[in-house]
Amino acid sequence: MSYDIAVIEGDGIGPEVIDAVRPLIERTADGYGFGIETTNYGWGSERYLEEGAMMPEDGLDRLADHDAILLGAVGHPDVPDHVALHGLLLPIRKGFDQRICKRPSVLFEGIESPLRGYSGGEIDFVVFRENTEGEYADVGGREHRGEDHEVAVQTAVFTREATETIVRTAFEAAAEREGHLTNITKSNAQAYSMVFWDEVVAEVSEEYPTVAVERLLVDAASMDLVRRPEEFDVLVASNLFGDVLTDLGAIVSGSLGLAASANLASGDEPSMFEPVHGSAPDIVGQGVANPLATVLSTALLFDYLGESAASDRLWEVVREQLADPNAPRTPDVGGEAGTEDVVADLADRL
Ligand code: NAD
Ligand code: IPM
Ligand code: MN
Repeated sequence: MSYDIAVIEGDGIGPEVIDAVRPLIERTADGYGFGIETTNYGWGSERYLEEGAMMPEDGLDRLADHDAILLGAVGHPDVPDHVALHGLLLPIRKGFDQRICKRPSVLFEGIESPLRGYSGGEIDFVVFRENTEGEYADVGGREHRGEDHEVAVQTAVFTREATETIVRTAFEAAAEREGHLTNITKSNAQAYSMVFWDEVVAEVSEEYPTVAVERLLVDAASMDLVRRPEEFDVLVASNLFGDVLTDLGAIVSGSLGLAASANLASGDEPSMFEPVHGSAPDIVGQGVANPLATVLSTALLFDYLGESAASDRLWEVVREQLADPNAPRTPDVGGEAGTEDVVADLADRL
C-alpha cells in the first residue's frame, strides 16, 4: 500500500519543521510496510509576493486527488494576514468541507506545565472545533470606509449540518474516552447561534446516554482550563472559540510546539494535518522550532490513513523522548537543542 500525500510547507517555520520531519515520515512508513509518496506544493506568501496569489487558481483541484494533505504554516510579515490565510489555509478547510478539527492536548511526562503542580499524564483532553463556518464564515462587509459612521459587519453562520457533525463527532469521541463532554458556548450573550448550538447538543446527547454533558460558557471555560485542566476529557466548540481554547490547551500542556491537529473532511475530499502553531516569525531561520507538533500531526495523519500501528509508534517515541532527561529538546520546552537534533534523536529511537 502506498499513499499519496500533498505537502504544503508554507511560510516561516513551516518549511523548517516539514523538512526536518519528512525523513521520519518515510522511515516510519517503511518500518510498517507501507509507502508514502509526497508531492510538494511550493505555495505560500513567497509565491504571493512574486505572483500575486498564495496558490494557483486551480489549487484545490490539484489537491483533490491526494489521499491527504500535510501543511506547515501560513503567515508572513510582508503579506497582510487576512490575505495570506484567506488565500491558502482557510479555502482548503472550507473547500474540502473539513468540518471537524481535532486537537489533542496532552501533558507528557518530562514536560513542565506553566501551571503549578501538574506533572506528566495529568492533563489529557481533546478539543473538537467546528472548522468551516461559525465566526469564520466569509459573510460581512464594510461601509463608509474612513468616515465617522463607518461600520464593519462580520456575520457568524451556524448550519444544522455542520453543527450536528462536530457535536456528534465529539460525543462519539467522548463515548470512547472517559464519557465526559464539555459543551462550550456563549449562549448567555449570543441568543441565536449559541442557543441553537446548545439545542443541537441536547438533541444529540439523547443518542449517547453514557456521556455526561457539562455546559460551560467560553469565558468560564478559559478560566477552568487553567484552574482544573485535569478534569476535561472532550470539549466541543465553535470555530473561533475552539481556536482560542486550543492555544490555551497547548500551553497548559507545555508548549504550542507540541500541539497537533487534524482537519477532517466529511466527504471524499482529502483531510489536512498541520501543527496548531503558526509561522512563528519571531524564531524563523534560527533552527530552533519544535518539530514535535508536526511529528504528532503526522501521527494523526497515519491514524486517519488506517495505519494505526505507525501512528501509535510515533506517539510512543515522542513520549519516550520527552520522558528522557538526556534527550535533546528545543528551547520552548526548556532545552537548548535545535529542530534537527530532536528529529535525529527520534529517528534513532524509531
Ligand atoms: P505562532 O503560533 O506562529 O507563534 C506564537 C508563539 O509560539 C511565538 O512566540 C512562536 O515563536 C511560538 N511557537 C510557535 N510554534 C513554535 C514551535 N514549533 N516551536 C517553538 N515555538 C513555537 O502565532 P502568531 O505569532 O500569532 O502568528 C504568526 C503568523 O502565523 C501569523 O501570520 C498568523 O496568522 C499565522 N498563523 C498560522 C497558523 C497556521 O498556519 N495554521 C496558525 C496560527 C497562526
Ligand atoms: C489555527 C490558526 C488559524 C485559525 C488562522 C491562522 C486562520 O490560528 O489553525 O489555529 O484561526 O484557524
Ligand atoms: Mn489558532
